[in-house]
Amino acid sequence: MFLLELIQWIVVVIFAIRILVELYRYFNAIPFRWYNDGNQWAVITGGNDGIGFEFAQQLANKGYNLMLISRNDTRLNQARTRILNNLNSDTKIEIRTLAVDFSKLDIYDKVEEFIQPKVNDVYILVNNVGAAPSIPDYFTNEDTLHHDELINVNVVTITKLIEIILPMMVEKKRGLIISVTAIWARYLAPMWSMHSATKSYMAQLCQCLAEEYDSSGIAFCTLYTGGVSTKMAHNVRPNITIPRAECYVQSVLKSIKRCGNNTWTGYWSHELIHYWFEFMSMLGTKQVIGEFLHWFTRKYRALLLKRKSGNPLEINVRNLLES
Ligand SMILES: NC(=O)c1ccc[n+]([C@@H]2O[C@H](COP(=O)([O-])OP(=O)(O)OC[C@H]3O[C@@H](n4cnc5c(N)ncnc54)[C@H](OP(=O)(O)O)[C@@H]3O)[C@@H](O)[C@H]2O)c1
Repeated sequence: MFLLELIQWIVVVIFAIRILVELYRYFNAIPFRWYNDGNQWAVITGGNDGIGFEFAQQLANKGYNLMLISRNDTRLNQARTRILNNLNSDTKIEIRTLAVDFSKLDIYDKVEEFIQPKVNDVYILVNNVGAAPSIPDYFTNEDTLHHDELINVNVVTITKLIEIILPMMVEKKRGLIISVTAIWARYLAPMWSMHSATKSYMAQLCQCLAEEYDSSGIAFCTLYTGGVSTKMAHNVRPNITIPRAECYVQSVLKSIKRCGNNTWTGYWSHELIHYWFEFMSMLGTKQVIGEFLHWFTRKYRALLLKRKSGNPLEINVRNLLES
């Protein structure tokens, strides 16, 4: 009985300390302001589709000029036209595009040349591009070339882009770096191992930098994103836990409040899932989450394989459980 009461008190004290620390950091932080003198730029990787496109569209509507870097020239031009057509009537912006494949390593001279002429005016960097297996599998079944691709897209790209852009932000004492990682970066994610590990790198890098530059006027927004209805997520029908990219990005942009560390999932229902997992981890059951996700991913894989073989099954809970 005494032991149970003691545990309850320890849990209460831990939560109270955590809330106090968060409150202290929140009120002590330099508030983030959306600076724009009409000449500021946002650089967005993977900006022609899905979440990246929504960042591009919504930042354009805030009046930021855009540099979009993705793989495909035609899709970049289509994205540029769509953004300009959807722009608020009183907003005038410029959009520059560069087509490069981030899975290659010999592209960074080109990327630097593209950004350099405006690097003094880059106020926002969105590290959005990401690679994930289209169907999850065991590490030894995967092609090692695919592993290289995951490392190049998820690890090298963010590092190089930050190397190019952060020094000028530090000099100007302002800027915003948004990085889209994944909820899998935080937990044991069997059959997504390379994806989870490379996304953890992104998250860890950004949170360390957020601490290093805490008082420098730069905001870091690191996102442990859950499911969002995009091509990467097999265009699952949007629902409470899997929002449309537009809603997800709206929620993210509204949440950036302070310079330094702004780390969360980016969306209220993803946050609830995360709290549930955190709670389970606090009870010492991290392994149980790993086992649950392993079971879940096996079901998900079976469903994706059925779809691949021509069965037009929708991705939903019922079909998942029956797979
Ligand atoms: N959707 C989700 O459920 C989810 C969940 C967690 C995290 N995320 C993360 O969110 C980010 C955006 O994902 P999304 O769902 O929006 O994906 P998406 O709809 O598939 O869009 C991916 C974008 O990245 C570009 N891209 C992909 N590979 C590239 C490469 N090798 N080189 C250059 N550009 C490349 C694509 O350009 P092209 O069209 O030119 O190929 C496209 O613009 C990723 O980092 C992903 O890991 C997504």
